[in-house]
Amino acid sequence: MLSLLSDSLSIIILLLLAPLTSAQPGYGQVSKYCAPGTASAPKGICYLQYYISATAPTFRIAIPSDASTNTAFDTILQIVSPASLGWVGFAWGGGMTLNPLTVAWPNGNTGQVTVSSRWSTGRTLPTTYSGATYKTLSQSRNSTHWTVEVVCTGCSKWNGGSVNTQGYGQFAWALSRTAVPQPGSAGSSFSIHNNVGMISESLDSGKNARDVFTGWVNKKP
Ligand code: HEM
Repeated sequence: MLSLLSDSLSIIILLLLAPLTSAQPGYGQVSKYCAPGTASAPKGICYLQYYISATAPTFRIAIPSDASTNTAFDTILQIVSPASLGWVGFAWGGGMTLNPLTVAWPNGNTGQVTVSSRWSTGRTLPTTYSGATYKTLSQSRNSTHWTVEVVCTGCSKWNGGSVNTQGYGQFAWALSRTAVPQPGSAGSSFSIHNNVGMISESLDSGKNARDVFTGWVNKKP
């Protein structure tokens, strides 16, 4: 009887926990991801990681811990994309329009990844955006994935909004399975996404002491 009772109790507990532990369609899994140090940046860095699925990109975001909402500070974004994707987008303010968009795609067969700064006033092809500039920290490609990590200057604050460093930050993502027509050009056109999603998360796991953040920004390839 006792064991029957404890069995039913475990089942009830498992059922209660299920929504917290299983992946739900449309929702990513959030965690803290830390990269080990390198010769030139021995302290490494930690990111807020947003994993969607094996067929979608993973996003990793890092900011300095002393950054405050509505101010300009550099942000780090790492994208790990399945090789099957033509382009991947990240929206710094939670939607397609009126916020900086970081769009990335594999650059033909060169082994490189092109990063394009975009902005959109409507739900049409976003135009290039000079309010944000990027420095590529690393990029790599193999048969299964392409990866790029950038420092963005201009993604934390824009005309009409900013990244929330204290409460929940609102971000969004998009992916396309169609290759872009001019992969070597950051000004290339591209076709509409096959999938989009919203991210509402605290950036706490991606906060790094200023010296750690700066060390990573200045690390040698
Ligand atoms: C040729 C380029 C693009 C076109 C024609 C386009 C068009 C559209 C359209 C028609 C919608 C509303 C219907 C739907 O949800 O599918 C939409 C939503 C959305 N798009 Fe795009 N899009 C483009 C590029 C991008 C890029 C680069 C991003 C970057 C992150 C993006 C992010 C989103 C998001 C997050 C939504 C849903 C939330 C919202 O409506 O703001 N889109 N897009």
